[in-house]
Amino acid sequence: MAQNRAFVMGHPIAHSRSPMLHGYWLKRCGIEGSYERLDIPPQDIDSFFSSFREAGWIGGNITVPHKTAVIPHLDHIDDAARKMGAVNTIWWEDGVLVGGNTDAIGFLGNIDELAPGWDTGTKRAVILGAGGATRAATYGLLSRGLTVALCNRTVSKAESLASHFGAGVSAHGMNALPELIAECDLLVNTTSLGMIGQPPLDFDLSPLKKDAIVYDVIYVPLETELIKGAKARGHRSVDGLGMLLHQGVVGFNRWFRIKPEVTGELRQILIDDIRAKTPGA
Ligand code: ATR
Repeated sequence: MAQNRAFVMGHPIAHSRSPMLHGYWLKRCGIEGSYERLDIPPQDIDSFFSSFREAGWIGGNITVPHKTAVIPHLDHIDDAARKMGAVNTIWWEDGVLVGGNTDAIGFLGNIDELAPGWDTGTKRAVILGAGGATRAATYGLLSRGLTVALCNRTVSKAESLASHFGAGVSAHGMNALPELIAECDLLVNTTSLGMIGQPPLDFDLSPLKKDAIVYDVIYVPLETELIKGAKARGHRSVDGLGMLLHQGVVGFNRWFRIKPEVTGELRQILIDDIRAKTPGA
């Protein structure tokens, strides 16, 4: 049986760029191993896990719609996954199957790379949204000591996230945005607005402080209207592609015991793929 087999499982899974990412690192690090794309419908999760050990999997990524459904199949989940209520990476640790969530590490690794020194003196963040990506951004920013104001169309979702995270997180409707962004050091979009095929995220950036940083977790297109607007106003900005790259570093390191590098070449391979498959990106 093949050794060193890792995977990404989801349903559907054809769109996942993780095989491209991990395939690049396997080759570059000269590791004999594989990273396989598995289309597992919800009704097959039980049988997937019942033969997990025998199949020789060393671990893998979990994506939509299984990020919460896998939790009962794991022996242990880490603090990030517990707080986010979602697992995106699983691995073995001393014979125990562990689930974690590396999205917050990806979120922070990306801004650390693209806006070095960003958290010096950065105190307040405003995050637009109240979905899965919002949880990762909130968890990450709280871990760096920021306070977070969540702004969402459906205020009740922001409120339930805020009470889930507790101290340091507040909830607001979109009408509070002008006032909130006038006070913040970092503005993050975690809604789907601005993504290809979705309406643009349309609001006035002029109240933003001059040195505020704007971060959009979207990476298709690579440059959203939000990022364009932020650049035009002279703000430092961060796009979402690096979040995908940096979250992958952690999983690869856990499975293959080598910390891979996020190179310019890798970034370009993904950019070329996005452009080839998405007209207008
Ligand atoms: P994910 O898990 O990928 O973060 P999600 O859970 O579908 O995605 O969340 C999408 C986010 O985009 C939500 O915050 C959603 O707002 P609601 O909670 O009010 O639905 C936000 N969003 C999507 N379309 C929107 C729109 N047209 N206007 C405002 N917010 C929108």
